[in-house]
Amino acid sequence: MLSSLAPRWLMVRSVLSQIPYKCSTIATDTINKLGSGSCSHSYRSHLCGELTESNLGETVTLCGWTRKKRLLGEGIDIAFVPLGDHSGTVQLTCDSGKWANLIESLRTETVVMARGVVKARPEKDRNSSMHTGGVEVEVESLEVLNEISPKLPFLPSTKGLVVTEELRLRERQLELRTPHTQRNLRLRSEVAMAMREYLAHEHGFVEVETPTLFKRTSEGSREFIVPTRKPGKFYSLAQSPQQFKQLLMVGGIDRYFQFARCYRDEDMRSDRQPEFTQVDLEMSFVDMEGVIGMIEGLLSTTLTQLTPHLHIPPTPFPRMTYNTAMEKYKSDKPDTREDRSDSSTLNFLWVVDFPLFTRNKDTHKLESTHHPFTAPHPDHQQLIYSSDQSKLENIRSLHYDLVVNGVELGGGSIRIHSEDLQRDVFKNILKVPVEEFSHLLRGLSSGCPPHGGIALGFDRLMAVLCQSSSVREVIAFPKSYQSKDLLTGAPSSLDKQTLATYHIIPKNN
Ligand code: AMO
Repeated sequence: MLSSLAPRWLMVRSVLSQIPYKCSTIATDTINKLGSGSCSHSYRSHLCGELTESNLGETVTLCGWTRKKRLLGEGIDIAFVPLGDHSGTVQLTCDSGKWANLIESLRTETVVMARGVVKARPEKDRNSSMHTGGVEVEVESLEVLNEISPKLPFLPSTKGLVVTEELRLRERQLELRTPHTQRNLRLRSEVAMAMREYLAHEHGFVEVETPTLFKRTSEGSREFIVPTRKPGKFYSLAQSPQQFKQLLMVGGIDRYFQFARCYRDEDMRSDRQPEFTQVDLEMSFVDMEGVIGMIEGLLSTTLTQLTPHLHIPPTPFPRMTYNTAMEKYKSDKPDTREDRSDSSTLNFLWVVDFPLFTRNKDTHKLESTHHPFTAPHPDHQQLIYSSDQSKLENIRSLHYDLVVNGVELGGGSIRIHSEDLQRDVFKNILKVPVEEFSHLLRGLSSGCPPHGGIALGFDRLMAVLCQSSSVREVIAFPKSYQSKDLLTGAPSSLDKQTLATYHIIPKNN
């Protein structure tokens, strides 16, 4: 029994943890707790899926979407209209003589408000597989709150619904109504709440928002460019809050985290989106063990409570060097599961001892393996000044990746905090213009504490927890495989006047 003093998320997580994956109706004993608070400030009295024999005789007001109605023929003037919301479905029984016109015209998925009395179902009609299967609501009043278009593209309440992904994304507002998507988004919300609680309330982290309209720098990934009304001036959408979070450490924030929106103009894959969310964090006065320990605590605490349907190995999670991973698995994100299809076991693995630089196969230039702010291993720091190129490729770094079942879940490092060293890496090795990073270099020279951090891909984490094959399943409004928003039609064309305002075409064109 959870004490009433327990944080709210502790109570909710015990509820969500009981919801089976891909359930079409939410598990029985979760409903009452899920429902608590869900009717406050509303004109409904209960959620559809929460009614049981304990409500017998009560007059209830329900709001929701109608499912496929069933009329009892010949002489028995009763219509059964299942009414559903995110919590489940309950059967309304209507006197189809009294409500003849309304029932007749009632389309599946119409939004209605029903008021009636909770009655026990006749023994022969009881449905033990439904939480509400022992009761029905005898309708006293029934009101259509909003008419529905004659033909919906698909009915989200259809069991075993098979619809192309293109249609599902185009009609995402309908797909959101399916139990599967509801479950994913609600679990996502609870995981985020639990993580915030753990970081902010148990470990002294401060949640800080950082700009996403940023400046283009040579940080690593290809960025989206934002034109402005000033000719020749552009913002770049932040590919991560990396530079700002380091400056927060300079600013004495000490421990920062953020559910950060990031933007990268990359080719799509099932685990990639052009805009995605990171659980991004940074800590002052910390070494690699500190960051790794924090993440292990964060994941094991949150997941043990919220996703008991998954097997989470105990901490500390195993570690493997980059060289071993490449030699043994030919991958820096090895899948260490015994079975490649077992999605209920989460084989977390830290990959460590990455090379600081990697040679680009096409340009033959040295690039940062993680990003240019990653510190070399102290034993290898002097090699930065070596004129022998092959030695540069052997510099080990303080970079660590967290991998789960072959997916790169997160990456981080201990950072360079010396201005001189950072300048030398930019100038001598990466050969990028130092002026691009003058803000960061000024920060490093103005009392920067030693610091390090990590970012977990939150969409990837949720895809793993929801046992989904794509991050698109756990994002409310994802982009398609072709990087398009099929719901709204973005990206879209602009008229000439707008193009001229942003100096994309000449004003007099
Ligand atoms: P990195 O680039 O490794 O590190 O990103 C961290 C994690 O973000 C997730 N991720 C993505 N998820 C969905 N779609 C994408 N396009 C995408 N790209 C990345 C991955 C990845 O592991 N600033 C550093 C972190 C740090 O050093 O603290 C960074 O962004 O799960």
